[in-house]
Amino acid sequence: MTTAAPVRRLRDRVAQLAELVATPLVPADFVDLLDPLRNSADLRARIVAITPETADAATIELKPGRGWQGHTPGQYVRIGVDIDGVRRWRAYSVTSHSAASLTITVKAIPDGVVSNHLVHRATPGTVVQLDQAAGDFVLPATRPTRALFVTAGSGITPVMGMLRSTTLQDVVWVHSAPTSDDVIFATELRAWAAEGRVRLVEKHTDTDGMLSTEELLALVPDLVERETWACGPTGMLDALEGWWPSAGTLHTERFRPSIQVTGEGGTVSFARTGTVVEADGATPLLDAGEAAGVLMPSGCRMGICFGCVLPLREGAVRDLRTGDITTAAVGDGVLIQTCISAAAGPCDLDI
Ligand SMILES: Cc1cc2nc3c(=O)[nH]c(=O)nc-3n(C[C@H](O)[C@H](O)[C@H](O)COP(=O)(O)OP(=O)(O)OC[C@H]3O[C@@H](n4cnc5c(N)ncnc54)[C@H](O)[C@@H]3O)c2cc1C
Ligand code: FES
Repeated sequence: MTTAAPVRRLRDRVAQLAELVATPLVPADFVDLLDPLRNSADLRARIVAITPETADAATIELKPGRGWQGHTPGQYVRIGVDIDGVRRWRAYSVTSHSAASLTITVKAIPDGVVSNHLVHRATPGTVVQLDQAAGDFVLPATRPTRALFVTAGSGITPVMGMLRSTTLQDVVWVHSAPTSDDVIFATELRAWAAEGRVRLVEKHTDTDGMLSTEELLALVPDLVERETWACGPTGMLDALEGWWPSAGTLHTERFRPSIQVTGEGGTVSFARTGTVVEADGATPLLDAGEAAGVLMPSGCRMGICFGCVLPLREGAVRDLRTGDITTAAVGDGVLIQTCISAAAGPCDLDI
């Protein structure tokens, strides 16, 4: 990825701050009651259908508004969903064929606000906010002659988006889920295996245990010669990235940030709301604010979309991925990403 894209997103993000912090209701929302998918509106989409995939996962079909620019298979979209009067943004990989309708597939996680709402309570007809597709977890223009996909749980989604849109020559797909019934897209996946379109290795971790790197090498001895895409829980991706042979090529997609460095926390003030909380040094300021009832802007929640940027009026925060400390003196208004920043002493946020 070039540096221009993050800088542009940061600039756009700052321009949108005033409106975003005013969620859930801005004047445009009232106009949208009449024509929510109109051309001039911020991008929105209507839920057309919700189809269960497993006991805790469902595919949501969306009809985007007229500004939708389409996606490259493997990319994700940010969705803003109004729940109990609060707009919550989350990222979801696109699972539909690139030329077909827009679908995302969501797995409800324990205590998950948006995932449970989308899987168990949302209804067709609901209008959600939508951002253009983003992300570089995609196939290269020159397709690999041999590919390997390593996925687990809901990490299957971006790869499904890729392989529904493209047929590759020689594909090994190692997918983990707790049980056979928990495999999202099981019918389609197994049909592709039966047709010989992919060599599928399903690992049911409740009975087989977790996939280890030694086992992966035994299953796919030529893995170093296969361009590889992996998506799944943090532990799996950390293990693969730490072990992957330098001669090979591994692309990973994370749904959560990899927290590497924590430290002392501090007192966090959310200046405009008058809210003050004590936060430990491992809790993102975004989570600390939401837990205290502050309407925090957000997006991917893992440091890639800049949807959570806020000015730090004063104090110090730590980047949980790198340990880097950012400080601000009164009046500096340094912009920070609250989803990957924790308090490193007292800090005062402009929200
Ligand atoms: C690029 C990208 C693509 C994504 N694609 C998909 C997708 O296709 N399908 C899908 O189901 N999800 C996907 N996600 C994850 C999704 O954005 C949300 O994080 C997820 O739905 C949980 O949101 P929530 O509101 O239900 O949970 P929250 O209410 O935000 O969190 C509830 C609790 O669960 C923890 N938690 C948050 N996220 C996860 C997670 N992913 N795994 C385990 N614990 C978590 C939190 O720390 C918290 O303790 C993607 C994320 C990114 C960044
Ligand atoms: S929410 Fe996406 S960068 Fe913080």
